[in-house]
Amino acid sequence: MYRIILYLKPVVLKKLSARDQKYLWHPLTQHQTADEPLGIVKAKGAVIWDEEGNEYIDAIASWYTTIYGHSNAYIAAAITKQIQQLDFVMFSGLTHEPAVELSEKLIAILPDNQSKIFFNDNGSTAVEAAIKMALQLYHNKSDKRDTLIAFEDAFHGDTFGAMSASGLSSYNGPFEDFLLKVERIPVPTEENITEVNEQLKIILKQNACAAFIFEPLAQGAAGMKFHSAAGLDLLIKQCQDAGVLCIADEIMTGFGKTGSNFASDYLTHKPDIMCLSKALTAGMFPLSITSCTQAIYEAFLSDEVHKGFFHAHTYSAHPLGCAAAIASIELLNSPTILERRAYIENAHKTFALKIVNHSKVAEVRTLGVILAVDLNLEMERYGNLRDALYRFFIKQGVILRPLGNTVYILPPYVITEVQLNKVYEVIERALDFF
Ligand SMILES: Cc1ncc(COP(=O)(O)O)c(C=O)c1O
Repeated sequence: MYRIILYLKPVVLKKLSARDQKYLWHPLTQHQTADEPLGIVKAKGAVIWDEEGNEYIDAIASWYTTIYGHSNAYIAAAITKQIQQLDFVMFSGLTHEPAVELSEKLIAILPDNQSKIFFNDNGSTAVEAAIKMALQLYHNKSDKRDTLIAFEDAFHGDTFGAMSASGLSSYNGPFEDFLLKVERIPVPTEENITEVNEQLKIILKQNACAAFIFEPLAQGAAGMKFHSAAGLDLLIKQCQDAGVLCIADEIMTGFGKTGSNFASDYLTHKPDIMCLSKALTAGMFPLSITSCTQAIYEAFLSDEVHKGFFHAHTYSAHPLGCAAAIASIELLNSPTILERRAYIENAHKTFALKIVNHSKVAEVRTLGVILAVDLNLEMERYGNLRDALYRFFIKQGVILRPLGNTVYILPPYVITEVQLNKVYEVIERALDFF
């Protein structure tokens, strides 16, 4: 009789967060000084769980995407059904039901002047396509225009066109010498609107402007800074009167964040081009769209082939992304979600009143489901104090990513009363602690 002796090497199960360090390079991270990332193993509704079993409320809906909650069963089922029918085909020369249905559903809820949908795969590429559409439109008309107009402190993404339109920061600073020509204006306020209008007039006169690009009503990365629809309307009107195309980057604001389906709904003068991503697929799939008016589309129709828009991404109109987006739009104005959106708006207003006079609060503002608190503390965007604040929130079981000294909440619409109250409590604790 033989005896089999197995010499097993002890298996050391390393944590995700440790294994991560070997090969991965994270976005927006200085790896020399950054903490290990949290290893996330599960997400449901407004909650995510790490590998140690700790749970966190995702109070910013994972960069404003997962508005119907993580692992939403309705959207997941739509993707599962789609993958069994048609996984993926390229979108040049071919089309498919999910893309067609999504275009129909989007056109039904977008401002009335939007009539064509162009697919991309993330927010930056949606902006890139929008800028290229504007520049090529004038090129097609042999009217060379080389200048964009954008707001100070704007953020439109990390590809070159999008970086050009963005205000100068650590995101695009190293590339300053390689960017497109952009003239910048401040966001309009009641006090400066006459001045800004005048400034715009001069810019329009002195430059060959193709487009004015803006984040309507709320500048996310700038620190959730809000401006009024009335002021923006005046600027759009002046640009449109001068034949300059207006591009609304609704990548952050789209799909209910500001109270209406789109921030552009508050405008009298509608944008010529719109960019959507993030909540478009509710975080389930990377997808984006650039929509435009019929007139813009027609400026690319010609017997000369090269006047078409020769711009493509391999994963354009991915059927799984389209299926996720269709299901998401079906949820957007469902009675349950409308009720939750109204609840969050009201709860934010009540909380804002509660903390407005706190000595550490410089300003608190709300718009739709967004609440932002500027702290009375000096903080660099990615400085030590800001990082300490971020860690403080994590320790208390809440994911909030302060933008410098601005703490903002943009929760999944499905967040419960108990969960939202916990987010408020943790912010109040931070006000007393720092
Ligand atoms: C207003 C706005 N535009 C564009 C982008 C870029 O989108 P993405 O990160 O998907 O490229 C963002 C991302 O935060 C954004 O908030």
